[in-house]
Amino acid sequence: MSQTDPATIMKQQVARAAVAQVKSGTVVGLGSGSTAAFAIQYLGERLQSGELSNIIGVPTSFQSEVLAKQYGIPLATPNDVDRIHVAIDGADEVDPQKNLIKGGGAAHTREKIVDCLADEFIVVVDGTKLVDLLGTTFLLPVEVLPMALEPVKRAIAALGGEPQLRMAVKKAGPVVTDQGNLVLDVKFPQGIADPASLEKELNNIPGVLENGLFVGAADRILIGEIIDGEPRVREL
Ligand code: A5P
Repeated sequence: MSQTDPATIMKQQVARAAVAQVKSGTVVGLGSGSTAAFAIQYLGERLQSGELSNIIGVPTSFQSEVLAKQYGIPLATPNDVDRIHVAIDGADEVDPQKNLIKGGGAAHTREKIVDCLADEFIVVVDGTKLVDLLGTTFLLPVEVLPMALEPVKRAIAALGGEPQLRMAVKKAGPVVTDQGNLVLDVKFPQGIADPASLEKELNNIPGVLENGLFVGAADRILIGEIIDGEPRVREL
């Protein structure tokens, strides 16, 4: 993907708008994925230019940790900080109630910890991520302990889901998460009518570490769009 294609421009614009909200002296949750990567870059640039000072980043993945180091952002874990002032992270689907599906990058477990701890969780997406009903354009990621894979698949099927093991690209075998677990991508053929209940039901299955439904977690949704050839950012 080039730096000038519309999808990249929308991601850059929305990431820039979110990072513009960050104030000096704050702890910032650093999301994962391609949109959050631009946010980490811009945060690092504001820090390096002296426009911001005294920022601590809390990464949500190995990817965001590596990027933050590359851009000179001091890092901490959730155990090291009393609070996280703001988190900036992407999403795979956003519904009209600001509920999300995340986990396209298999990072949703740490993302949920960091994003939900933040006083303000700002979601950065392009307009293609908006849906009327969750689960209609994106399969729901579920992180599973490897020794429980088959019983978890059966339990998910009993809830009406159709799980498939996420396979790696440029590596033989399945995707392995930052925690050493596997990811099931689950299709719900009718979409997800009650995300709040499903989020809890899935996490109640022994062997499930976390699922990618983020219900009631997001405070603000910033949307990058291109209108009449011009990039714009609006808030849901
Ligand atoms: C990572 O696990 C995900 O939750 C990402 O935040 C999500 O997939 C959005 O990624 P993009 O910004 O690359 O679309």
